[in-house]
Amino acid sequence: MDIATIVALAPVVPVLTVEKVADAVPLARALVRGGLPVLEVTLRTEVALEALAVMARDVPGAVVGAGTVLDEGQLRAARDAGAQFGVSPGCTPALAAAVRAAKFPFLPGVQTVSEAMTRAEQGFRLLKFFPAEQAGGIGWLKAVAAPLAGLRFCPTGGVNAETAPAYLALPNVACVGGSWVAPKAAVEGGDWTAIEKLAAAAAALK
Ligand code: 3PG
Repeated sequence: MDIATIVALAPVVPVLTVEKVADAVPLARALVRGGLPVLEVTLRTEVALEALAVMARDVPGAVVGAGTVLDEGQLRAARDAGAQFGVSPGCTPALAAAVRAAKFPFLPGVQTVSEAMTRAEQGFRLLKFFPAEQAGGIGWLKAVAAPLAGLRFCPTGGVNAETAPAYLALPNVACVGGSWVAPKAAVEGGDWTAIEKLAAAAAALK
């Protein structure tokens, strides 16, 4: 699957920071049951790669990617663990080159028009807009729609259930990312029913 196909699978990509491997499969199952199959596991915890690997292996229907990919080493580790796509908060020339060389589905992060233009020059058409709320949010996306025609964004960072619909209504938004569908307290408490409900509400957004 290429990145355009992956982001078309659901309006919301849950951004997951997994602290315990035992949480990985029930968490992913709850999100998939709720209707959110595309999952981003951030590489920010000791167990992130293992969590990603078990989700990819044991949760039918899940399309599991790695988030917070900062360099080529992490890109390789994520792919080896079974990631089907990657996401980065920003991007470097080396990371972009590695992604292109590997032909790996990837959402590079951008925050400025020049960064978006640089990624477009390298062949990327879908970009993560991060941190979305802090960097100008909906106003930024509306303003760049005409000059950056042909690029679409996955705004992430500060997006929540209340603001997601307005983002998703924009023609240059492919999907939104966010952690609100898997709140830390619900994960720690093993409240998978609550997470499934949040996922179902997010999946119903257009
Ligand atoms: C992140 O990388 O932490 C994501 O952007 C999630 O942001 P959020 O917690 O504000 O949804």
